Amino acid sequence: MDPTAIPGVVFSRAPGRTLPVAVRAEGATIWDADGRAYLDAAGGAVVVNVGHGRRSVAEAVGTQLGAIAYAHGTAFTSEPLEAYAVEAGPLIPVAGPAAIYPVSGGSEAIETALKLARAYHVARGENERWTVIARWGSYHGNTLGALDLSGRRPLRRPYEAWLGRFRHVSAAYPYRADEPGANALADPAALALELERTILSAGPESVAAFVAEPIVGATLGAVAPADGYWSAIADVCRRHGVLLVADEVMTGFGRTGTWFGMDHWGVKPDLVVAAKGATSGYWPFGFVAASDRVHRTVVEGGGFVHGFTYSHSIGGATVAREVLRIIREEDLVSASAAKGALLLGLLRDRLGDHRNVGDVRGRGLLVGVELVADREMKAPFPRSARLTEGIVHAARESGLLVYSGTGCADGTNGDTILLGPPFVVTEAEIERIVAGLAGAIDAALATVAPVG
Ligand SMILES: Cc1ncc(COP(=O)(O)O)c(C=O)c1O
Repeated sequence: MDPTAIPGVVFSRAPGRTLPVAVRAEGATIWDADGRAYLDAAGGAVVVNVGHGRRSVAEAVGTQLGAIAYAHGTAFTSEPLEAYAVEAGPLIPVAGPAAIYPVSGGSEAIETALKLARAYHVARGENERWTVIARWGSYHGNTLGALDLSGRRPLRRPYEAWLGRFRHVSAAYPYRADEPGANALADPAALALELERTILSAGPESVAAFVAEPIVGATLGAVAPADGYWSAIADVCRRHGVLLVADEVMTGFGRTGTWFGMDHWGVKPDLVVAAKGATSGYWPFGFVAASDRVHRTVVEGGGFVHGFTYSHSIGGATVAREVLRIIREEDLVSASAAKGALLLGLLRDRLGDHRNVGDVRGRGLLVGVELVADREMKAPFPRSARLTEGIVHAARESGLLVYSGTGCADGTNGDTILLGPPFVVTEAEIERIVAGLAGAIDAALATVAPVG
């Protein structure tokens, strides 16, 4: 066919693959146009916390958009926005009242956090504070600033020449601690010392912020640090006047069985970044929440040069408010904790002795499975085996959607599967997820040449 005769095409996120057409979803299930059902064991990209098909969200936003859909954030505030700040503020682990700056997603929220950290220091007259420190084995988004923060090599590689502004320290990744190439440690004291040395070598007066995920999501596959890590890190940051920024884009709003990931350790960062579960996929939305101290300093001091057309969205706040109401009313944070424990337990029963499963881990309904060629040595499969992709494919063929990660072992090799189903997932569906994933792992392994 003459390509000029085609009026337009979608630039697909999966070029070369014919994607099914999604038409309907309910709870933890998505149906395609052929009537095929898929069990959404990852909530898309660990997004759909309250589950699919919530009519009340559609109704709330429909009514709101009929009244007013858009007013520019520099000219107006809105009732949904003001109410959302009041309702969500007390849940966010910053020293409050939390000041919420809403944007359109996680990457924008991270960029906003970086600029806010900078604005805070400038307002205090500390103009030299430019340096930002993040960790290897992390993901903070795909815009250039957020990507530069991200210690996820497969995503950085194609854009490497545009990156390099930020520093990276070791991941808190107990399973691969001290391995050459993994850039990982386990001991909280060693990790805190490494951060402190990095701050000192940069010059403490030049460091603006340290940014990290409380529990690492897609890059490492649901990896929590050892207890003591976050309080030690917060202490180092405080002593050197460095703002602590928690990237809770994936861990926020109940995903790990507490409202926010940092709640597991009772640590209060200066800035909290959220997105995904805040609107559960019903609206592109994210925010930075600043502590009262940071907020006041910026407002009373140097101001904040920033802004997006779609920040402070009335529709976004309406959806976020209704999603928050659902989480609270249905006690979905407790559901995430209880169902996550069930999922983790069943996975460990089923896969704990599997010769190619190195680790099964997670908190709440954020659960990861790390695959290895050799359990004793924790040797990963070579990237060329494309094991993760094989598992995702086999699972999809059986009607199960899972999320994948590569590069956890050394930046290139290493395969993880991440599970993050909606909090309304049923016990029977959890059993199907476990059986489906076990089957997909074996199906994929059957096509991979033995290693060694
Ligand atoms: C921890 C974390 N931070 C930031 C982002 C970027 O969010 P978005 O894809 O909404 O830009 C993600 C997305 O997966 C994430 O998991």
